[in-house]
Amino acid sequence: MKLFLDTANLAEITEINGWGVLDGVTTNPTLAGKEKRAFADIIREICDEVGGDVSAEVVATDTDGMLREATELAAIADNVVIKLPLTPAGLSACRQLTDRGVKTNVTLCFSAPQAILAAQAGATYVSPFAGRLDDIANDGIALIAEIADIFRIQGYRTEVLAASLRSPQHVAQAAAVGANVATLPAKVFHQMVKHPLTDAGLERFLADWEVYQASLEA
Ligand code: G3P
Repeated sequence: MKLFLDTANLAEITEINGWGVLDGVTTNPTLAGKEKRAFADIIREICDEVGGDVSAEVVATDTDGMLREATELAAIADNVVIKLPLTPAGLSACRQLTDRGVKTNVTLCFSAPQAILAAQAGATYVSPFAGRLDDIANDGIALIAEIADIFRIQGYRTEVLAASLRSPQHVAQAAAVGANVATLPAKVFHQMVKHPLTDAGLERFLADWEVYQASLEA
């Protein structure tokens, strides 16, 4: 499973990219708005930092408008992926971009039938939002499992990008049910790496090393 960072913040991207674990980045209009800078500049800088796929979302709601924005965004860098909403207009734009060889991420997916439509439209990625389903007492990970099963059985090449992941457990569960990609905020990367036994074990090893070195000098 590939790991993407869900943010538009360059400092977060640079930090997590430095760990050597990052395959790409996803952004959305909400995340971009937090940066208070021109969207094209944000995407350009992220693409300079990260070699993998970087999703940039259109905000037009009609197909022609989406395609105009997509053309501008795709011109920023070779690794830009055009993020489109799971609407009839978004599916139509997805099909046209796919036919032109432009990578796409169909977002705001909340059901298996929607995911099938994204695959039929030739999407590179479809993004089911696990956390937002959990928020309304549905089972987000069950949806990711269902979509992954359908895509495997049917041979769809669209990758399942598990989004709206809120915890390390979500990431492990998404991996276990066959998601191709998980996108998560920097906070969850930090939660994933931490374990109290790792900290305690390292402290003990370093203390024992000091004792060992002192014994050699004695
Ligand atoms: O980028 C899409 C998705 O990951 C957003 O997550 O936490 O706002 O539901 P969240």
